[in-house]
Amino acid sequence: MEREEALDSIRANVENGNLIKHMLATEAIMRALARHFGEDEVEWGLTGLLHDIDVELTNNDMNSHSKLGADLARELGASEAMAHAILAHNQRHGAPLETTLDKALFCTDPLTGLIVAATLVRPDKKLAGLELSSIKKKFKEKSFAAGASREQMARCVDIGMELDEFIGLGLEAMKGIAEDLGL
Ligand SMILES: [Fe+2]
Repeated sequence: MEREEALDSIRANVENGNLIKHMLATEAIMRALARHFGEDEVEWGLTGLLHDIDVELTNNDMNSHSKLGADLARELGASEAMAHAILAHNQRHGAPLETTLDKALFCTDPLTGLIVAATLVRPDKKLAGLELSSIKKKFKEKSFAAGASREQMARCVDIGMELDEFIGLGLEAMKGIAEDLGL
């Protein structure tokens, strides 16, 4: 699967620009994690990019979200490993988080929202000057970006990363595509 094909399919199925940016941010972090672990950057990046392709198609119904997404990813040529990670990132279906890829996508998903929210409360609303220490402070404020599950992010320990290292890696990855994210 070419990245361009994946993006075309996303553009055909997703209208919400912020949701597309969330998928781009997830892609960037997943690529950085793959580099960190010596895994396949292309496979991990595409898994992150495609993981929420079905959110609008399923009307955000958590009982079908990610099942359809996994099927769509397979149709686009995703491997079973990629499709399983996409399926399992919504834990509603009871698919176990088995591989490092599954676990990486799961803890990465809520991280992008926390970083975006921490950027948008800055006077300049830019990622460039955002520091890890600010995000860590916001992480502890439970009411800040409350939808970004702290518990889910903390599962980075399941891929052998401390929270600071994980958030720091995510921050740098998102800074690398700041322009695409409009931040
Ligand atoms: Fe997501």
